[in-house]
Amino acid sequence: MLTVAVLISGTGSNLRALLDAAADPGFPARIIVIGADREADGLFHAEAFGIPSFVVPWDAFESREAWGAELDAQLKVWQPDLVVLSGLMRLLPQTLVAEWAPNIINTHPAYLPAFPGAHGVRDALAAGATQTGASVIVVDDGVDSGPILAQEHVAVHPGDTETSLHERIKPVERRLLIDVIRRIAGGELVLSARAGSTRPDSH
Ligand code: GAR
Repeated sequence: MLTVAVLISGTGSNLRALLDAAADPGFPARIIVIGADREADGLFHAEAFGIPSFVVPWDAFESREAWGAELDAQLKVWQPDLVVLSGLMRLLPQTLVAEWAPNIINTHPAYLPAFPGAHGVRDALAAGATQTGASVIVVDDGVDSGPILAQEHVAVHPGDTETSLHERIKPVERRLLIDVIRRIAGGELVLSARAGSTRPDSH
């Protein structure tokens, strides 16, 4: 059974979908802990599912490195096989990435490499894109630049707002994330830090 730590910053709707999937006894992964960089609303889901949680408050540290060292220490208490960033809105320090790579994955609301960063949905709209998407990637030292594990296009509709588009992307993210975790747990998908090797469009 693959053990998973999930890190969030926000409402945790994707986390919730993951918790629902993992509640199925047939699901080959177990969420053992949920962490956040602040008192995120999504921590409610941890409580609802009786899963331990921790907060490493971004504001309480003087540097990204110091925050990352504490996050690393918290993760090491739980020793998860896989760390999932599900809406963690912080760049991780290189030391933390090096410690957990390649067993650390991220879900992003755009069809990478287009529109990386904290505002993937807003940036796609601002660029006038007619389609964007969802991606699940391995975290590396860059900004949403790691190997792509799964991705799918989502159409931008006339009149879309950031909220309406994001709400249409999230169900796709959830499906991709759950499927990626299932495939990692089943040994069907082997994580590697080598960029590009798993990109669906590289074949
Ligand atoms: C998700 O769309 C996730 O991809 C995004 O934050 C949202 C969290 O939603 N993450 C990023 O943009 C990271 N660059 P949720 O809190 O409702 O699950």
